[in-house]
Amino acid sequence: MNNTILIVDDEEMITTTLSSLIKLVLKYNVIVSNDPLEVIENKLIEKYNIDLVISDFLMPKMNGIKFLEYVRKINSEIITILLTGYADKESAIKSINRVGIYYYLEKPWDNNTLIKVIKNGLEKKRLSDELNKKIIELERSHHEVSSLYELQKKHYHNEVENMKGVIMALANVIEAKDKYTEGHARRVAYISKKLGQKSSLSKEQLENLEIAGIIHDIGKVGVSDSILNKPGKLTNEEFNLIKKHTVIGEMICKPLNCLKNCIEPIRHHHEKLDGSGYPDGIKSNKISIETRILTVADIFDALYSDRPYRNSLPLEKVRYIMFDEVHNNKLDGNIVKLLFEMIDNKEITCINEKEKRQFIS
Ligand SMILES: [Fe+2]
Repeated sequence: MNNTILIVDDEEMITTTLSSLIKLVLKYNVIVSNDPLEVIENKLIEKYNIDLVISDFLMPKMNGIKFLEYVRKINSEIITILLTGYADKESAIKSINRVGIYYYLEKPWDNNTLIKVIKNGLEKKRLSDELNKKIIELERSHHEVSSLYELQKKHYHNEVENMKGVIMALANVIEAKDKYTEGHARRVAYISKKLGQKSSLSKEQLENLEIAGIIHDIGKVGVSDSILNKPGKLTNEEFNLIKKHTVIGEMICKPLNCLKNCIEPIRHHHEKLDGSGYPDGIKSNKISIETRILTVADIFDALYSDRPYRNSLPLEKVRYIMFDEVHNNKLDGNIVKLLFEMIDNKEITCINEKEKRQFIS
């Protein structure tokens, strides 16, 4: 793109000489005026998209400093050069710094110096324009990245909400299937989360534990109602069918990627530390902390609430049974101890239904 230079001087001889020199040596477009007021009135700066202005200092209608001040107000990127007579040098220099003029030259000027100053000034403007362009591009891409991030965040939030919806629906399926376990899944999730927090589990572990608590018995949808809700004692055959709910639960949840970290607690929540549990009979070192917590919460709530074959047991009886299980190397002693400490300190309360339902927010 060719540069355009404006020359303003009340002496026609000077504007003509300068114009010829610049056109001849630099081949730039040149606009000339002998009256700064004419430039202002006719908006020549804007009209010709001026890159550089050379102005005389002493002009009858307007001082060169004031004129260049006006130019810089229109566009501070325009390069401004002031021409001064020797006698005006002192007063001109005082004003130069205030206005921010690029260069001043004394009359009579040296042609080579003037050409060099013009070239350097325009190169400075080119670099400055390029920099401004880059800044605008960066701001635009930053804005685009921010918008994309906001969109992703919204998308992620919707995904989480959807996932919670799926989990709640699964919880409702279990409760509708097994009337005696109404609220059981929610209470297990609540107790597990409380125990997990006290055991310093990570945020991700706590989230998975809470979800696993809700859906740990989802596999019961694969067990017949007559067995699940049987008031009397189960036969061995019936109990073997009930045991299958762990592997059925795993099978149901496996296709859902968002539940991949809940698979292990769902499959193993009936394992015992001594290997006497089901479905795999794995021992303590193979059972994760999340699963051990879930198992304790599950057994506690099963004992402390009504079942098809009996009413809920008193808290002291539950405590006795569970510590007996610890003694027999079935349950994790630290977790059972923590559970009853938290119940005694009212950090876990299983009386208030509302609080039990706070597990998912
Ligand atoms: Fe279960």
